[in-house]
Formats: sequence, C-alpha cells, structure tokens
Amino acid sequence: MAYLLALDQGTSSSRSIIFDEQGQIVASAQQEFRQIFPQPGWVEHDANEIWQSQFVTCQQAMRNARLQANDIAAIGITNQRETTVLWDKKTGQPLYNAIVWQDRRTAAYCEELRAQGYAEKIQAKTGLILDPYFSASKLKWLLDHIPGARQRAARGELAFGTIDTWLAWQLSEGKLHVTDITNASRTMLLNIHQGQWDQELLDLFDIPAAVLPEVSPSSHVFGTCSLLGSAIPIAGIAGDQQAALFGQACFTPGMAKNTYGTGCFMLMHTGAQVATSHNGLISTSACQTGVTSQYALEGSVFIGGAVVQWLRDGLQAIQHSTDVEQLASSVPDSGGVVFVPSFTGLGAPYWVADAKAAIVGLSRGSTVAHIARAALESIAFQSTAVLLAMVKDAVSPITELRVDGGAAANNLLLQFQANLLGIPVIRPKVTETTALGAAYLAGLGVGIFANQDECAATWRMDRQFIPTMSRAQAQALMAEWETAVNRVR
Ligand code: G3P
Repeated sequence: MAYLLALDQGTSSSRSIIFDEQGQIVASAQQEFRQIFPQPGWVEHDANEIWQSQFVTCQQAMRNARLQANDIAAIGITNQRETTVLWDKKTGQPLYNAIVWQDRRTAAYCEELRAQGYAEKIQAKTGLILDPYFSASKLKWLLDHIPGARQRAARGELAFGTIDTWLAWQLSEGKLHVTDITNASRTMLLNIHQGQWDQELLDLFDIPAAVLPEVSPSSHVFGTCSLLGSAIPIAGIAGDQQAALFGQACFTPGMAKNTYGTGCFMLMHTGAQVATSHNGLISTSACQTGVTSQYALEGSVFIGGAVVQWLRDGLQAIQHSTDVEQLASSVPDSGGVVFVPSFTGLGAPYWVADAKAAIVGLSRGSTVAHIARAALESIAFQSTAVLLAMVKDAVSPITELRVDGGAAANNLLLQFQANLLGIPVIRPKVTETTALGAAYLAGLGVGIFANQDECAATWRMDRQFIPTMSRAQAQALMAEWETAVNRVR
C-alpha cells in the first residue's frame, strides 16, 4: 500500500494528514499557532512558528500511522493563500512576520491605485479585484518598510513566497524556491492568461523579479524532502481553495464547492477558459496537472468559521467551537438579530476593504443564543450572496453545491445553507477535502493515480441537505441580510 502525506497549512492551524491510495484518512495531527494583531486591521503570523508547527504535525501523523519515510510515496502541500513571507536566502530567516491574507494595512495604497485607474488593467491581467487581500501590496509594504530590503531583493539575496513556497524551502532545506500556478495566481503579479510573472505589474508594485519563486503546474515533482528520513518527492502544491476544488473532484466546468474554513471560499470550475465576472467574483487559476491551464471563478468570504472563533475567544460565549451548534439550536431562529462579521473588511461580492463588523436587530429579548445563531447564519448568508453572483456569471445553472471544511460538520449550518440556496448541499465522507486535493495532486505527480478519473472514483457522499424553506421566505431573509450589510458599508 502506498501512502501520501498532505501538509495543510491553514490560517488557524497547521495539519498533516496521511491518506492511503483509496483516498482514505489513515492518520492526522494538528497544531494551532499564534495569531498576531499588532494594530486594528493588521494580522500577522510568525513564519518560523508556522514551519515548526507544520513539521511537528508531519512527524506526529507519521508516528500515529506507524509509518516510516519510505512508506510515503509523495508529499503534497496545500496552504492559506496570499499570506506573504520575505526571507534571507542565506540564513533562511524571515525579515518580518508573515503578513496574513486578512491584513488590511495596504487598503489606502490600493485605494490610491484605484483612483489612478489601475483596477481594470489589474483585473484583466490577474483576474483579481484590486484589494489588500492579495500579496502584491503586502510585499511592496515589506520592501518599503524594511530598511535596505528592496536593494537586497534586487541583488537576489532575498526570497518572497506565499506559505507553500516557504514550506517547500524548509522541507528541501533551502534548495527549492518554487510555487505552483494556483498560489502564484493569488499574488496579483501573475498574468493568469500566460501563466507567467508580469513585468508591467512588477514595475507597478516596484517588485524586483529576482525575489520571485519559479512557477510550475500543481502536480509536478518540485524536489525532495529528506527531513523525515529517506528522501520523499514533493509532488503536489496548491492553494487550499483550489486544492479543495480538486479534492471534491470538481474537474469539469460548472462544478462548484464551498469550503467552510477560517473564511468561506466558493469556487466553480470554468475549464480551460478564464471566465470574467461582472458580479464581484474573481477569476483564478485552478489546479493544473498537465500542460493545459485550468481556471475557476471564486467568491472569497473573509470571515466564515472565524466568527465562531470570535464567539469563543472574543465574546467568550462558548468554551469550544463545537459548542456553537447546541447554543444556536437552543432558539428556533435568530429573533431578528443579523450579524455581519466583517471584522477584516468585506470580500466577495461586496468588496469593502475598511468595513467593520456589526450585530443589528438586537431587542431586549435577544440572548447570546440568538447572537450565536445569527453568527452561524452569517456564514450561510455570505455564501448565498456569492452563489447568487456566481449564478449571474455562469453560463450553465449550478444544480448542487459540494461542501467541506471544519464547519461542514455542522448540520444546522448546512440545512440553513440549502434552504437559502434552494439547491441540494452535498457533504462528502472525507471533509478534509483540502488535504485530499493535495494528496491527489501528489499521487498523480508520482503515478499513484493514473489520471483524475481514478481520483474521482474515490470520492464518496456522506449526506445531502435538501432545501425545506419556501423561496419567498429565503428571499425575505436574504433581503434582511442585504439591509444589514448596507449598514457596514
Ligand atoms: O485565501 C485565503 C484562504 O486560502 C484561507 O483559507 O482555510 O485558512 O481559511 P483558510
């Protein structure tokens, strides 16, 4: 039996999952790490802590599975996207904390670029909406604020990377400075039509090309890792949301998935063509396994499961994240409370970089249970707003939605989601779809799977949530949600 080790480096935790060749989970390990909030709107991670937590979970997962390095056919990496690391190639030390995708410090700069008329050109080349979410303005901020960094970068002394690149560097002990097309497409520096770094954008953001990693397809032998014993090929890399699309076996145009992680990310495969959104979605590269480029439309919601984290850590309304379902179920509805969790601005389809969160509709009878219910419902409302935008952009109707991620275990949430959407919501047996996608890519890279059909054959449904609410009621709830969103704009 061959095994695949998937490294899933997320925003809230680092996880390692070992899969067998039937796509079944054999063992896993997880570790949370620090979230650093130096100022309102700023979010950072310690890149060394990310690596250490990731590596510890690799070792732990292998111990849990009682496997040695030579039992592992390949490693796949999947990661929180856009988060920006800059390090010294000689020492391997980061020059600054990683600036996390949620960080808003470059909002004013992005606004300036918009005022100068760059938004359309950027969107045409990258598929992205001009927003601090993506890496380019974060990397520019680092090069502007660290004394001497831009000159050192131009001399080839520094390396930039998203988290995949940082992990590949560490796993290869500094031999690899690489990324895959899906991660590169989130930097705002890649021309997604050509699959190459774009000199005009590098000039605009004042980024020396020498700092950039080499871009390859997502399924590809990037190099090897010898840190776990014998050498293991690193044969798959993809940003977590594209990996989840792959892990849900959404390989053909029109197939869509929604991942409920720290944020919520809905992606619909659009095949070999870039589909341009007119409704607030972005175009992005999907996992590429051969020579042909693949694309997806994406709706990125910045706060999904993180709203539950806020209930736990900020409001201290629950002790464990899993307690939320019980608390929210203790009331029949939210009692008119609407929670807009735009703690880090609003992403798709609204794009309001400096929005703050709000809880509206409170009355004397409102309790923490109503707030918890409204918090859960906010995840579904945001996802519905994205799906409605996607339906307007799509050439063919979306008939079902595959879901995954931590909060996909929550039946109350998924039933409400199906009710709002009016289409079946389908949960697979393996909801660690992000990691599964990375394992599929790595397995394809070393020939454990001959083709995508063999991957798709291992995908199994767990449960289907069928809408039970009338369309009129769903529309009324969505209207209430949109009114609340208008309050934070
Ligand atoms: O674009 C950000 C996304 O990749 C983060 O994913 O799962 O850490 O919320 P997650």
